[in-house]
Amino acid sequence: MSTTDFTGRIDTVRLGGPDGPEVGAQGFGAMGISEFYGDTDEAAARDTLEATVEAGVTLIDTADIYGSGANEEFLAPFVAAHRDEIVLATKFAIERRADAPHHRGIRNDPAYIREAVENSLRRLGVETIDLYYMHRRDPDIPLADSVGAMAELVRAGKVRHLGLSEVTGAELREAYAVHPITALQSEWSLFSRDVERSAVGAAADLGVTFVPYSPLGRGFLTGAFADATKDLSTSDFRRHQPRFSGENAERNAALLEPVRKIAAAHGVTPAQIALAWVQQRSAVHGLTVVPIPGTRKRARLLENAAATRITLTADELAALEPIAGQVAGDRYPDMSFTSVAREG
Ligand SMILES: NC(=O)c1ccc[n+]([C@@H]2O[C@H](COP(=O)([O-])OP(=O)(O)OC[C@H]3O[C@@H](n4cnc5c(N)ncnc54)[C@H](OP(=O)(O)O)[C@@H]3O)[C@@H](O)[C@H]2O)c1
Repeated sequence: MSTTDFTGRIDTVRLGGPDGPEVGAQGFGAMGISEFYGDTDEAAARDTLEATVEAGVTLIDTADIYGSGANEEFLAPFVAAHRDEIVLATKFAIERRADAPHHRGIRNDPAYIREAVENSLRRLGVETIDLYYMHRRDPDIPLADSVGAMAELVRAGKVRHLGLSEVTGAELREAYAVHPITALQSEWSLFSRDVERSAVGAAADLGVTFVPYSPLGRGFLTGAFADATKDLSTSDFRRHQPRFSGENAERNAALLEPVRKIAAAHGVTPAQIALAWVQQRSAVHGLTVVPIPGTRKRARLLENAAATRITLTADELAALEPIAGQVAGDRYPDMSFTSVAREG
C-alpha cells in the first residue's frame, strides 16, 4: 500500500459500547492547527479538515485551551458544513491567564465547568457538544462533584456524552459510578505506555472507548524530526519535552530501527506502523480504540487513514514490544500533568 493511494472510507466503530455514536476507527486531532507544533498554513489545514470526512475520519478532537479558544473557532465553519457527518469532541479544565502565558491552572469545579461549556458552544457555533472531556484532573475537587456537573450538562442537552483525559483506572471507575463515561483520552503510543498500568484495564472492564492521543509520539515516531532543539522552531512545544532533545533524542531515535524495518517489509511508512500498533491495542487489550493523530496536511491524513488497513503479525508486535521500556526522558516537562503521577 503506498502512502497516497488511500481511497474509500475507513471502518467504523461505536464509542462507549453498542449504544454509543458511530465514528471512524481513527479520529483526527486538531490541536496542532492552532498551537504547539510551529506555523500552520491555514488553507492546507482547512483542506486537511475536508479530507477527514471524505476518508470517514469523523471523530474530530479539539479543546478550549488549544490556541486559547482559537482552535474551536477555526473549526466552526467546518463543523457548520459537516455537523451531521462528524462527532465533535472538546475539553475543559486547563485554565490560562493572559498575564502569564505559561500558566496552566487546572479547574474542575462545577461553576467553572458550567462557564467553560458555554464558551466552547459559542466558539464552535453549535447547540450541543457530542463528547465533552475533562482535560485534566484536580485531585482537590471531589470527582463526583465534577462528573455530577458534567452529567447536568447532558441532562440540559448541552452535551451528549462524557469523557475524561489523563485519569487513572481508579478515577475512571469512580467517575463511571456517577455517570457513564464514553471515552478515555490519554497518551498511548509505541513510546508511551504508562496507561497500561491501570487505565486501559479499567476502560476495558467498563466498556469505555480508549482514545489514544499523540499516537505518533508528537511526530517523533514518524522520523519527521530527530532532535527538537535543532530541528524545530523556537516556539515549538516539543523543545520542552525531555525525550525529544539532546542525548535522549539520540538514544530514542535509535529505538525506531525495528519500526523502520517493519515499515519497509510492509512497503509503508514508520508513521503507519506506529498507528497500526496503537490500533491493534484493541485486540490485545479487549477494548475499542480510536487513535486521534494530528496533521495539517491532506497527504498525511490519507497516509494515516490507510494505516487502519494494516495488520501487524505476532512477530512484528513482539519486535516492537521492548521499545517503550527503553525510552529516555519523560513525556512532559512536568509529569504532575499526567495520570501516572497519581499512581505512585
Ligand atoms: N488530552 C490531552 O491531554 C492531549 C494532549 C496532546 C494531544 N491531544 C490530542 O491528540 C491529537 C494528536 O496528538 P498530537 O498532535 O499531539 O501528536 P501526534 O498525532 O502523535 O503527532 C502529530 C505530529 O505528527 C506530524 N504528523 C502527522 N502525521 C504524520 C505523518 N503521516 N508523517 C509524518 N508526520 C506526521 C504532525 O505534523 P503536521 O501537522 O505538520 O502534519 C504533527 O507534528 C492532538 O491534535 C489533540 O487533539 C490531547
